[in-house]
Amino acid sequence: MCGIFGCALKEGKAAPLIHSSLKRLEYRGYDSVGIATISDGKIFVKKDSGKIDEVDKIVNLDDMPGSIGIGHTRWATHGAPLKVNSHPHADCTGEIVVVHNGIIENFMELKNELQNLDHTFVSKTDTEVIPHLIEQVLKENPNLTLVDAVIATLKRLEGSYALAIISTKEPDKIICARNESPLVLGINRKGVFCASDIPAFLPVTNKAVMINNGELVILTAQDYEIRKIQDSSLVTREPITIEWTAEMAVKQGYPHFMIKEIHEQPETLRNTLRMQEHYLELMSTFLDRANEVFLVACGTSYHACLAASYMFSKLAFLPTYPVYASEFIEQHGKSVSIDSTILAVSQSGETADTIAAVTCAQQRAATILSLTNVIGSSLTRISRVYIGTQAGPEIGVAATKTFTSQLSVMAQLALRLAKKRGKVSQDEIDSLEANLEKLPEIADTIVKTQEEKVKKIAKKYKDSKVFFFLGRGISTATAFEGRLKLMEIAYIPSIAFPAGESKHGPISLVEDGFPVVFVCPKDDCHKTLVGNIMEMKARGAQIIAIIEEGDMDIKSLADEFIEVPKGIPGVLSPIPYVLPLQLLAYYVALEKGFNPDMPRNLAKCVTVK
Ligand code: F6R
Repeated sequence: MCGIFGCALKEGKAAPLIHSSLKRLEYRGYDSVGIATISDGKIFVKKDSGKIDEVDKIVNLDDMPGSIGIGHTRWATHGAPLKVNSHPHADCTGEIVVVHNGIIENFMELKNELQNLDHTFVSKTDTEVIPHLIEQVLKENPNLTLVDAVIATLKRLEGSYALAIISTKEPDKIICARNESPLVLGINRKGVFCASDIPAFLPVTNKAVMINNGELVILTAQDYEIRKIQDSSLVTREPITIEWTAEMAVKQGYPHFMIKEIHEQPETLRNTLRMQEHYLELMSTFLDRANEVFLVACGTSYHACLAASYMFSKLAFLPTYPVYASEFIEQHGKSVSIDSTILAVSQSGETADTIAAVTCAQQRAATILSLTNVIGSSLTRISRVYIGTQAGPEIGVAATKTFTSQLSVMAQLALRLAKKRGKVSQDEIDSLEANLEKLPEIADTIVKTQEEKVKKIAKKYKDSKVFFFLGRGISTATAFEGRLKLMEIAYIPSIAFPAGESKHGPISLVEDGFPVVFVCPKDDCHKTLVGNIMEMKARGAQIIAIIEEGDMDIKSLADEFIEVPKGIPGVLSPIPYVLPLQLLAYYVALEKGFNPDMPRNLAKCVTVK
């Protein structure tokens, strides 16, 4: 995710303000930090891997000259959290430096092009192409202004960015720009600031100017000028006054991190779907060659594995075995061997049970692959290949956005494998890929259109003593995840089963008014599921159904329904269908007066077995 900050002050040193502002952006990433300032026509840079306080202790971030500067707190995506990959990044001459939040999708081709023109790269990051491109534009067009060179560069970038750039060529300004990644300006009588987020500058000003996609800003200590990247036309926008308290600001105005993170899913899915092709290619090659594949994880990450086992089977005809990490050693420890492949999934990359399972498999020469949200975590260090899930730091204890990111990476892997194995028609693959691309938009629609309805349902059922969550096929995993969310933050005992299994025992619990949540995408299981709903209804259950928009078969049976946009293929359905369940858990917890961000007895990262 990363956080950027820049400031142009009328007087005084920029570095201490950049340092303190980056501290307030640390929630966006904290594996490396860096600051660049300009003074007397020279650029000064201090950067290293580690948390801001750790790096500061060694390099004294405040001790940098100049009243103009930019800074960055990193959450690694491209390249490990090492000093060399820390921002700011510079061109060959060191006269143009850049901080960046986002992902430049076409960086490989740009890098090749620039290397052929003799540019020297020192990092593994996508960002480093930006200063080199600006340098190259200026080399080819020496009469261009810095702003025009930046505009020409931006037009060549594909992907997302919030950028702040300084250069000795025009040392009185910062140029920043936005496409998808957030960017906002702050203004007070001492100067002008740019940041990823309002909390960065809230202690010094509550006057903010929001920057939109496709806009560039030229910022000096006196003023700011906004232009459209497309045609350089001027945009007039006055500052607004932010009324948030500092605590509200960190949560961007949301009352809790959990709801903020639920709302972030359109963005995190968009980022995850920008996965670099070669990582997917590499990991799917390992999976393709594997004799047996175990999907190993705990909690929510285990539910992602469960759903993924359906994806791998249905799309790639690859059997995989989802296993609770805490059971792996007992269940498979002796039989795992050089012929086994482990795909370990962990948001934190530090969960003790997952690390123990992976270590055991590694000692028995198994191939270790992993998926994690934290590059540089223990899991990445013991994996042959790992993929970062690009969800940004997740602070709410209950996993939400990392679950959908894990699922979307595994869906991409399954599709990649499907192509390799040639078991699914090209038409079907094309259609699934198109549907994957639509998921961020669909997530946005669900949150925008269904949240109020979910709130009402939460109010109505908040005093229920127990809930059932049922689904068939891949929706079993969605039902399991909905149940875990409700239990862990609203403390309501809940039961989840594959719907078909419920009549082999659990149905005996059902009596009048018993709430049963059914997850009902329009997939191959739909008809049978209707039968399961009727069985429950006949025993007095209250049916809360998550349905496809306009699904009259189920609408006519349900007491409550939450609608998800039409046309999502069953194999991708857990990604959008889990959103209403996350919202349900959140609002039931609120109704019951609990803090969803701090569920009792739980920790975000479980480092004990
Ligand atoms: C539930 C939740 C936990 C985690 C589990 C694994 O909301 O967050 O169940 O999913 O502790 O954590 P990671 O994914 O970090 O290994």
